[in-house]
Amino acid sequence: MTMRIAILTSGGDAPGMNAAVRAITRGGLAKGWEVFGVRNGYAGLLADTFVPLQARDVGGIVQEGGTMLGSARAPEFKEAEGRASALRNLAARGIEALVVIGGNGSQTGAASLHKQGFKVVGVASTIDNDLYGTDVSIGSDTAVNITLEAIDRLRTTASSHQRAFAVETMGRDCGYIALMAGLAGGAEVIAIPESEITPAEVAERLRAAYRRGKTHALAVIAEGARCGVRELMAYEKECGSVGFELRVTRLGHVVRGGAPTAADRVLATRLGADAVERLARGETGVVVGLSCNEIAATPLTEVAGRTRPANASLLELVRVMAL
Ligand code: F6P
Repeated sequence: MTMRIAILTSGGDAPGMNAAVRAITRGGLAKGWEVFGVRNGYAGLLADTFVPLQARDVGGIVQEGGTMLGSARAPEFKEAEGRASALRNLAARGIEALVVIGGNGSQTGAASLHKQGFKVVGVASTIDNDLYGTDVSIGSDTAVNITLEAIDRLRTTASSHQRAFAVETMGRDCGYIALMAGLAGGAEVIAIPESEITPAEVAERLRAAYRRGKTHALAVIAEGARCGVRELMAYEKECGSVGFELRVTRLGHVVRGGAPTAADRVLATRLGADAVERLARGETGVVVGLSCNEIAATPLTEVAGRTRPANASLLELVRVMAL
């Protein structure tokens, strides 16, 4: 049965989104469907900016970070009138189903379209890796590896100068990137929103590393942690040295750029292709992700408005490994 589908990427871009767009496009074309890309996420649904996608249009993008379709945050879509206008635009073009590649906010938007009777399948994609219903989201592996590369580079200079570095990475209210990169990068201490640690405790862990004769120390700090880099620097200024000279690096959006890792490209390809298969079977209203390395679909109604915290129990391992 032929079908006309559209794809959008929404929220913060994530490395691997392009690989997902390619997989959905080619998977759909292989079934004889017509495929359209929506420019700039939900904003494009409202602005009626659709582009037809052929196999060659998604050539040479599997290795590119960001999203060729563009992404945006569209507050108007949260309003009933905005969603009604999006549905009118989809209907006017005869588009029967939509694939939404994105994280929490994006899938909450997808849930509201599904609730209004439109066929939607979500594809889990956010560097934060905090989407409910999946062990891993497209982009998070790349973000962890970019953070890790920065940590490794900072350790080199920290060690040469007997310094401590506080490295802040992204993740919004989730500590996944900081936790994974900090564990892999041999951090002395990690501050994440899931396990509150005070500036005094972070400073004490750095000081203890100095006393144990370490040549350097690293604190990896999630942007959403109560002990942010500002709080740590303020504490040091007020309460005294941590032994090492302390420096700060905030990675910011650097973490979101660059080429996706092999793991993200493979994940995006698997999830994108699976989304097409589900549409072909008439299975909609779900987000596809991974559970125990198998593709798992979770109802949009369960995913909407929920998040998944990082595994804070790994912090004990970090403490032991820092001895
Ligand atoms: O959700 C992805 C993310 O990069 C978060 O880690 C971060 O808090 C946020 O987006 C930044 O948003 P913006 O790109 O709108 O500044």
